[in-house]
Amino acid sequence: MPLLTWNESYSVNIHELDTQHKKIVELINELHDGMKLGKGKEICGKILNELVNYTGFHFKSEEKLFEMHGYSETVIHKRQHDDLVEQVMSFKNSFDKGQGMVTVDLMMFLKNWLTNHIVNTDKKYSQFLNSKGIV
Ligand code: FEO
Repeated sequence: MPLLTWNESYSVNIHELDTQHKKIVELINELHDGMKLGKGKEICGKILNELVNYTGFHFKSEEKLFEMHGYSETVIHKRQHDDLVEQVMSFKNSFDKGQGMVTVDLMMFLKNWLTNHIVNTDKKYSQFLNSKGIV
């Protein structure tokens, strides 16, 4: 069973951003599978890298839209993105330096952070961006 399953309650009502969120969910599930199956450092490291890079790309996509359209909550939203990047980088550094273990703590952190961020923070921009023609 996947760690996270996409459902409509996560939709931000913007096709491109929903697609990106789904991809992040997929990568988190892949990493979780790798951890459960005891895959080695190389395989988990590759997925973790992709997750870090893709999440960075996704945050930039949202921030670009905020700047283009003058979203009033840009600063507070961006701060949450920066905090997550910092926390994930610190997990990634321990992973790289250590035995390459993906821990249950990391998986729970990613799952909770992503779902909370989408539902409580991302969804706030939907109406604003939809009103600017972004759907
Ligand atoms: Fe979809 Fe603000 O991250």
